[in-house]
Amino acid sequence: MTDEVSRNERIKEASNYLRGTLAEGLREEITGAIVEDDQQLVKFHGMYLQDDRDLRPERTRKKMEKAFAFMIRVRISGGVLSAQQWLALDQVARDYGNHTMRLTTRQTVQLHGIIKSNLKATLKEIDGALLNSIAACGDVNRNVMCGANPDQGPVHAAALELARAISDHLTPQTPAYREIWLDGERIAGGEEDVVEPIYGKTYLPRKFKIVVAVPPSNDVDIFAHDLGYIAILDGKGGVAGWNVTVGGGMGMTHGEEDTYPRTADIMGFCKTGDAVKIAEAVVTVQRDWGDRANRKHARLKYTIEDRGLDFFRAEVVRRSGVLLEEAKPFTFTSTGDRYGWGDGADGRSHLTLYVQNGRLLDGATTKQMSALRQIAQNHDGEFRITPNQNLIVANIPPERRTEIHWLAKEAGLLAPWSGLRRNSMACVALPTCGLALAESERYLPDLMTALDERLAAHGLSADDIVIRMTGCPNGCARPYLAEIGLVGKGPGRYNLYLGAAFDGSRLNKLYREDLDHAGIVAALDPVFAAYAGDRQKGERFGDFTVRAGFVAATRNGRDFHANVGEQAERAGR
Ligand code: HEM
Ligand code: SF4
Repeated sequence: MTDEVSRNERIKEASNYLRGTLAEGLREEITGAIVEDDQQLVKFHGMYLQDDRDLRPERTRKKMEKAFAFMIRVRISGGVLSAQQWLALDQVARDYGNHTMRLTTRQTVQLHGIIKSNLKATLKEIDGALLNSIAACGDVNRNVMCGANPDQGPVHAAALELARAISDHLTPQTPAYREIWLDGERIAGGEEDVVEPIYGKTYLPRKFKIVVAVPPSNDVDIFAHDLGYIAILDGKGGVAGWNVTVGGGMGMTHGEEDTYPRTADIMGFCKTGDAVKIAEAVVTVQRDWGDRANRKHARLKYTIEDRGLDFFRAEVVRRSGVLLEEAKPFTFTSTGDRYGWGDGADGRSHLTLYVQNGRLLDGATTKQMSALRQIAQNHDGEFRITPNQNLIVANIPPERRTEIHWLAKEAGLLAPWSGLRRNSMACVALPTCGLALAESERYLPDLMTALDERLAAHGLSADDIVIRMTGCPNGCARPYLAEIGLVGKGPGRYNLYLGAAFDGSRLNKLYREDLDHAGIVAALDPVFAAYAGDRQKGERFGDFTVRAGFVAATRNGRDFHANVGEQAERAGR
């Protein structure tokens, strides 16, 4: 580590608590963009400046500015929205966005294609629905996730309450958001400890992600996150407390072996009353110990690798004044969603819908946004976004069941038969994401059609197999925890990873590099064949690929890059 700090640290420091020159930049009509430093700051307000990469060649030819537009990510703790809030976001997407809504892998909604001159109007409407986008991106605590299954009654309610409490406690205090986007009164920046008592002037070294899980479901993918809480039941239908996990993260860079995904460690157990204190202590230790010189080494996972879990835990205990107890036993069974109808309290029901890669739109044949609008009208229950980019319509009264079922069916929102599709996720990638090296959301459905054909040939169509794709190694769809992980390397080319655990507890391992479409299908077909023929009873695909010697097991982040490639061939099989 050096004493030098990265450029982003200087931008944060000079920003006067995230103001920068955003207010002036918005008034600048000559360009659809904002200046470079403000592009970093606007992330803390929940936005990314992007451009339509499909249009780049044509616009360059015509000597035009890139087709700039913003992506806005809403902050939705636990992914729970009222029907009114759903309707408001749907309206905003149609009035100011690209007429689609993108449900994300972290239980929020992204709106794409919002031009600069519409940003303020958009954020005002979002504010009118009692929502905001503060800290949805940037070097701060992001959206706090929570297990999505509403059937679990009081335990789920306790988990959601904790997620909301942590989110509120760690939301940046700066008045900049209100000032810039909502024409709030300018409040002079005060002393550091007054404006941001937890973060200070330079916020965190890097993004920070928190989740709350309710076993046996690991839908939140707890081991992929910086900080996590696992509900431990008291045997009387309530929560006795929480196991606390730290140091998970996905992002890495191709070809740089000192960057790697890492599964979180279990740090101990705490009571509900202490959980927020622990969150604050973990965040402030990372604020002070995290690497501010090298952004590729700045996540909590590297702080814990470098300093050791015991040393880290001792500092958290010291700062919080909470003595962490031994972690308690728990069991996770899967990271997926339970599709279809489920029964809730009071004779009401829930319907978990399948949303392909989280993208909702009114297409030529299916009208998904319209169907959900119809469902939302007169709905006094909630809409819950799942961590798998799906949607639960919760608390449906018996008299609306049939109508809602048909609306969802017509719109193609009921879960497909294919076990692969039911367990699939893709990040956005092209055309909006500036970091994408390859397609993801627009390509995965076609790849799955080809793979489904092979799976059917081996009698595996209905088997649950987790597949996730991203357009670059940053890992937004958590591909390193998928039984089949595909990570973009360049246009039309992907690295293929195998061997993750179905319950989200073990990372996968690089199996083949730089494959095109035909190469992916050809690489997987024999693995499917072997699985169909040789699996043990109940054995999951990921576990099988390790046992059968296709890949070595990854024990944790540090050995993610070790023993890569086809193990069976190496062993001379
Ligand atoms: C390490 C570096 C990362 C960078 C620089 C990064 C950057 C981005 C960008 C630019 C987008 C916007 C894409 C678009 O909507 O057009 C995006 C989307 C997203 N990212 Fe990341 N990301 C990183 C890692 C992660 C990880 C590890 C996660 C989750 C654990 C994550 C979660 C998301 C989510 C939920 C979205 C929304 C779209 C989706 O569901 O795919 N990001 N990210
Ligand atoms: S994984 Fe890469 S390509 Fe996909 S959305 Fe994230 S940053 Fe973009």
